[in-house]
Amino acid sequence: MGYTVRKTPGDTSWFVHDRFGMFIHWGSYAMAARHEWVKNRECTPEEHYALYAKYFDPDLYDAREWAKKAKAAGMKYAVMTSKHHEGFCMFDSAYTDYKCTNTPAGRDLIREYVDAFRAEGLKVGFYYSLIDWHHPSFPIDRLHPRRKDPDAFEQNQGRDIKVYAEYMRNQVRELLTNYGKIDILWFDFSYSQPSPDDLPWMKGKGKDDWESEELIKLARSLQPDIIIDNRAEIEQDLWTPEQYQPTEWIRDKNGERVVWEACQTLSGSWGYYRDESTWKSPEMLIRMLVNTVSLGGNLLMNVGPTARGYLDYRAEAALGVYADWMKYNSRSIYGCTMADPEFQAPADCRLTQSEDGKRLYVHLFAYPFAHLQLRGLAGKVEYAQFLHDASELLFTEGGVNHFSEGAARGDDLLVIELPPVKPPVLVPVIELFLK
Ligand code: GLC
Repeated sequence: MGYTVRKTPGDTSWFVHDRFGMFIHWGSYAMAARHEWVKNRECTPEEHYALYAKYFDPDLYDAREWAKKAKAAGMKYAVMTSKHHEGFCMFDSAYTDYKCTNTPAGRDLIREYVDAFRAEGLKVGFYYSLIDWHHPSFPIDRLHPRRKDPDAFEQNQGRDIKVYAEYMRNQVRELLTNYGKIDILWFDFSYSQPSPDDLPWMKGKGKDDWESEELIKLARSLQPDIIIDNRAEIEQDLWTPEQYQPTEWIRDKNGERVVWEACQTLSGSWGYYRDESTWKSPEMLIRMLVNTVSLGGNLLMNVGPTARGYLDYRAEAALGVYADWMKYNSRSIYGCTMADPEFQAPADCRLTQSEDGKRLYVHLFAYPFAHLQLRGLAGKVEYAQFLHDASELLFTEGGVNHFSEGAARGDDLLVIELPPVKPPVLVPVIELFLK
């Protein structure tokens, strides 16, 4: 049992066991409540965007509440935005005045997050945006909110990305020094390839602009076990497919399987978006988690808190869906990975297998009528049950032969008898104890 996976510089042993985390996108953009890219999309004038910080007052923020909800949902770690592309810092940085402690919030919101989530036993990580649309040394480019200003070129004079790269090192040093053990550092993102949107004096930004090698070296010197993603444009511990469903175990350019984490949103936005309506169904939420683990990956599912500091009713409902399912079925997620290739999932099913190889989990995305036939499992299963209530499931080997005498029998088939009525579980799971 087991797949060869590319070694990682950081300690990913707990990560590939825990499988499920909470992404938290929270910043002054929650005031606009129109997506975390609102400043880019609307080219918001600086004086207007400053109002969001001026009036940012998350008076209902209680990180302990968030942590309890994440834990109940079965999430084992969290990654919260310490600074997003807008440049507003959710922590008390000595290198900028554009931070939450200088708003009506008046407190270090990241500090409360790490304390609360650790208290609930979750690992903690920081998202840190490489992009910064507020910093005076960050060169204006095709993504920058000032890109369409008539005097954008003039505004850009004197901006030195080296000054900004040092600013990032200083802030990463603060984040990895002042808040205890940090388990994940999630950089975002590089765009070094030229684009038709580049004006002649603009260019994208990548590892050389961020001085990524030095930034990552600093991070690892401060937190040797830390897990770092690949978006500073240097491959590290994590590959990070986003907003799509991989169909196979992510591999590097040499074809080697890697540690990977899909990051997804409950709706169409990372940051709080009041009027966004594409919220995923309960079934889709569970299927995304199962799909990801069935391919050897982790799921980082995002919440975007409101500017008052609480998770809105839609996010709370989604976390409740996870809590209800994980309460009875988390055994098919934690410590599990892609099933051995000898096991083929029947139609509308996904398989996961325990790391020790002894338990195979069959997730029923569509509830079959009467029987479930699993090819290649005859003679290999000692016992079968529904995972949610440990109720026995009887099985036979060879094909189903109700009045189909003479039909070719699938001697390698395991045939599990199922109750005619689907159990009260969004995605029922069959637990097979292998011989
Ligand atoms: C994309 C979005 C960014 C978000 C990130 C999460 O990079 O631009 O807003 O934070 O995805 O992975």
